[in-house]
Amino acid sequence: MTVLAVAIQKGGTGKTTTTLSLGVELGRMGRRVLLIDIDPQSNLTQAVGHDPTQIEHSVYEVLLNPTYGPEFATIPTSYGVDLVPATLTLAGAELTLAGRFGRELLLRTALAEARKEYDYILIDSPPSLGVFTVNALTAADAVLVPLQAHVFALKAMPQLEETISIVRQLNPMLSIGGIVVTMVDRRTSVNMVVEDTIRQQYGDLVFQTTVPFNVKLVEAPATGQPISIYAGDSSGARAYRDLAQEVVARYEQ
Ligand SMILES: Nc1ncnc2c1ncn2[C@@H]1O[C@H](COP(=O)(O)OP(=O)(O)OP(=O)(O)O)[C@@H](O)[C@H]1O
Ligand SMILES: [Mg+2]
Repeated sequence: MTVLAVAIQKGGTGKTTTTLSLGVELGRMGRRVLLIDIDPQSNLTQAVGHDPTQIEHSVYEVLLNPTYGPEFATIPTSYGVDLVPATLTLAGAELTLAGRFGRELLLRTALAEARKEYDYILIDSPPSLGVFTVNALTAADAVLVPLQAHVFALKAMPQLEETISIVRQLNPMLSIGGIVVTMVDRRTSVNMVVEDTIRQQYGDLVFQTTVPFNVKLVEAPATGQPISIYAGDSSGARAYRDLAQEVVARYEQ
């Protein structure tokens, strides 16, 4: 089984979109998948059609009571994957957790048993480096990085690598497990240049599959449906199907 933190300390690069779209595809391929929303924005929770204000137990309770395990808060979705949801109150949890001993290891502790129940656990992280991202990175086997095909995107990589090297004190095996280039617009030559640069720099870490800029991926979250249901024939849905195949090939050898 594989725990992937979908993370990079930059906003709007496709973390939530990738967590959901990839997770649902892995579920369709017969894998047991748990998605964890550890972002106070609750975008992932909303994207599968849940109202964060109506949620009883969230990832916050999981962090506060790590020995209960994630099943304390896990809810099913209509899309073949389970979800540990986030609520907007998670923002306040940052302060509550700040004083806790071992606060960086709460999610890792919570997942210790659950790891056996799932083939993939995907953790959608916030763009900032706070207690939530650190918990995601400490709990993960590897980091999955969605990188926008944009000139400034690469600038976030050194910071991520530095963060990973610090988190290794708690999670020695942590590494970048894959980079997926997202929001690629084939009509823009600068996009292609950026993609080439990313491939030169990170080699085999970069998945062959790139996710095109696709407006269906913008629309889907508002409907509470993953892309495979909302627009299964779209270029975005096809890309995430291909990515899931690559992920399976990479992590299940
Ligand atoms: N391939 C794509 N093509 C077009 N729009 C996309 C694509 N991927 C994501 N988006 C849109 O871009 C926005 C940001 O994507 P997303 O929410 O997945 O990023 P994020 O990294 O999770 O953001 P944050 O850092 O705020 O959590 C969203 O409106 C999303 O619908
Ligand atoms: Mg997000």
